Amino acid sequence: MRMHLLVAATLAAAGCSEVSTGDCDAMQEDFTLDPQITAARLKELLTEFGATDPAELDCDAVCTSLYRRGDKSSWEVIVTSCTLSIADDAMGDPAGTIACDGEAAEYYCLGRRPLGHIEHSLADAGLPTFLAHCARLEAASVLAFSQLAERLQLWGAPAALIARCRQAAAEEASHAEILGALAREAGATVLPATQHDIPVDIAAAARDNAIEGCVHEAWSALSCAVTARGAATPALRAAFARLAADEAGHAQLAWDLHTWFLGQVTTYQRSEIVAAQRAAIAGLPALARAQSRAAPPALALPDGRLATRFAIGLARAA
Ligand SMILES: [Fe+2]
Ligand SMILES: [Fe+2]
Repeated sequence: MRMHLLVAATLAAAGCSEVSTGDCDAMQEDFTLDPQITAARLKELLTEFGATDPAELDCDAVCTSLYRRGDKSSWEVIVTSCTLSIADDAMGDPAGTIACDGEAAEYYCLGRRPLGHIEHSLADAGLPTFLAHCARLEAASVLAFSQLAERLQLWGAPAALIARCRQAAAEEASHAEILGALAREAGATVLPATQHDIPVDIAAAARDNAIEGCVHEAWSALSCAVTARGAATPALRAAFARLAADEAGHAQLAWDLHTWFLGQVTTYQRSEIVAAQRAAIAGLPALARAQSRAAPPALALPDGRLATRFAIGLARAA
């Protein structure tokens, strides 16, 4: 699914190229296009977008299409400005010009809480308590991936996906250790992750993955990358750089799981899952603003503006 690339594009746009992302290295560039759109090319674009009138063409979509021609068909594109003008050419046929700027990235890679997770309040937490909270969430992610691997086995999922979930659980365990050590050094106590025992069928797991994995872990990857650059101390920056690399991989895993899950549920369930995912994407900016307000300034968490940009890109690709 090409939406994976959007996460990478936003990561790259956030400047995370300074963060090691393991196998998820991104190629990115800013671009400017200002080609003439000949009458013949305009006909191709109308066919591509199923339009009959040039006025129906969306400038961003045309810009993206033109950028991807050649060897960049899989690149993810965010258009930042676009002007499309159509007028009759010398032969009396409609033709035009387009001028657009944007960012593109070739990529891909993208906290997950277990179903039934019991939340703890973060009201007025200082840095030690906040780190302890993060460590607890990382421990919750260990449960989430371990339980998911067990369920996937029961549901006959591909062995590679199950293995990747087990690998992710191991990575989450190391995240819990890293952040737990930082929290304890600062004097905080890390509480264990807890959850209610609830029944989970494949549709519930698919819906949870679509939101907790595809949306929230993707945002987590981006958020960690930003903190890795801007946090107040080298120890925090190093810790979050490690998390950013792994979380990007977990988000990729979530989208790969999403593809498999959508093939296992009914048409109605699929529609409901997709709608819930869209709602989670739409809610991301508000979530980011709340996280940013709750987090200590020392972590330099990204604000709602970056989340808005990310959500727009994710929604376009979803
Ligand atoms: Fe994690
Ligand atoms: Fe994760």
